[in-house]
Amino acid sequence: MSYQAPRGTRDILPPDSERWAEIEEQARRILGAYGYREVRTPIFESTDLFVRSVGESTDIVRKELYTFTDRGDRSLTLRPEGTAPLVRAYLEHAALRQENPARLAYLGPMFRYERPQAGRYRQFWQIGAELLGSKEPAADVEMIDLFVSIMRAVGLPDVTVLINSLGDAACRPVYRERLREYFTARLDRLCGDDAERVKTNPLRILDCKVPSCQPVIRDAPTVLDTLCDACREHLGAVERGLKSLALQVEIAPRLVRGLDYYTRTVFEVHASSLGAQNAVGGGGRYDQLVKDLGGPETPAIGFSIGTDRLFMATSEARGAASVPAPDAFVVARAPEAAEEALAAARSLRGVLDPREDRPLRVMADVQQRSASSQMKVASRLGAKIVVFVPKDDDGYGVRDMIEGKDEMKQPSLESLRSWLRDRRRAAEGAR
Ligand code: HAM
Repeated sequence: MSYQAPRGTRDILPPDSERWAEIEEQARRILGAYGYREVRTPIFESTDLFVRSVGESTDIVRKELYTFTDRGDRSLTLRPEGTAPLVRAYLEHAALRQENPARLAYLGPMFRYERPQAGRYRQFWQIGAELLGSKEPAADVEMIDLFVSIMRAVGLPDVTVLINSLGDAACRPVYRERLREYFTARLDRLCGDDAERVKTNPLRILDCKVPSCQPVIRDAPTVLDTLCDACREHLGAVERGLKSLALQVEIAPRLVRGLDYYTRTVFEVHASSLGAQNAVGGGGRYDQLVKDLGGPETPAIGFSIGTDRLFMATSEARGAASVPAPDAFVVARAPEAAEEALAAARSLRGVLDPREDRPLRVMADVQQRSASSQMKVASRLGAKIVVFVPKDDDGYGVRDMIEGKDEMKQPSLESLRSWLRDRRRAAEGAR
């Protein structure tokens, strides 16, 4: 019997896994610089949380949830997104509400039962940020700027930001009715799903990708005609704020998103290397969600970046990754020295030294191989230096594998370690 990763999921192997870690590290660095602090919520939550927040008539809730009943007869769902769990945690823990606004972030896997294709998986990762407690356009500007800064930090300066407003409780119903009327009069030109959406959620039709629906969608009334003064002013202020930070934005009057909790600003970010269909991420305001989930009136805004897509976009930009070579490989000259080789490798790495913030990459054999096979392994791994144990009267033997020549022997592991670190520094300086 042979097993495979479930459909829509995949294993992330080295060197990709290393690039992922790098991307997440950069994202954490930028989130930290903007004052956003990470919250790790569970991977599953009560099903009701997502039905109430994401919305009963959305594709996510209707077709894409991974829902199961546990042994205690609770209905639980693997999180399809991170905002609702974060709001749940915000309401559950007073500590998260101490700062107003609260700046919070999360990184981790999400689950949606979608049709797998390039850039779309059933388990995918997001990097998200949420700012809870501000209704001001400045919060929207900070969010979008933060998103773009993360993109830049991972090497994607070339992005397009699309923004729109979905209106608020005052003006959105007017728009929804207008859309309903428009689409009802053109039902025969819409696909079956859209015909259903006319009743449940006409805004979602704007996001339909079926080619035959596009002419009708293209001529649909835009939200900009029905925005109330307050929403119009808000959108204008966000646009001005972004321009003053020299961020390129386009107003996209037909941009709607796949979740029901949005009010006012919504946005999406596209990277030139990914094509127009696939947003790297998106987000928006959700001024009612905290209240809808049982909390006090708390306007909020946030975004999520699809880490899988960020990875794809940076692969385009960067080309193949290099395999990290060991700084040194410790060769045991004889089988009796195998344990000493492991001990020497450990002290050369420096992982037990509290002052060491960047241990050397040092490996040794665990297969009881002969000294000459160990040399072959070291060279296959691309080790720059081979160190021989045990030492003789003159110290530890050292061979430069790149130059193919023996170096001066080193009297102790301490001197060897500092010599290896100097070499690493010199090599990095030369690059
Ligand atoms: P979303 O647009 O559903 O928003 O997802 C955000 C991003 O997650 C997408 O732009 C995409 O990059 C990635 N993504 C979504 N589904 C998949 C998938 N099946 N495979 C790969 N990547 C995917 C949200 O999730 C909201 N929580 C964003 C937000 C935060 N709004 C306010 N705060």
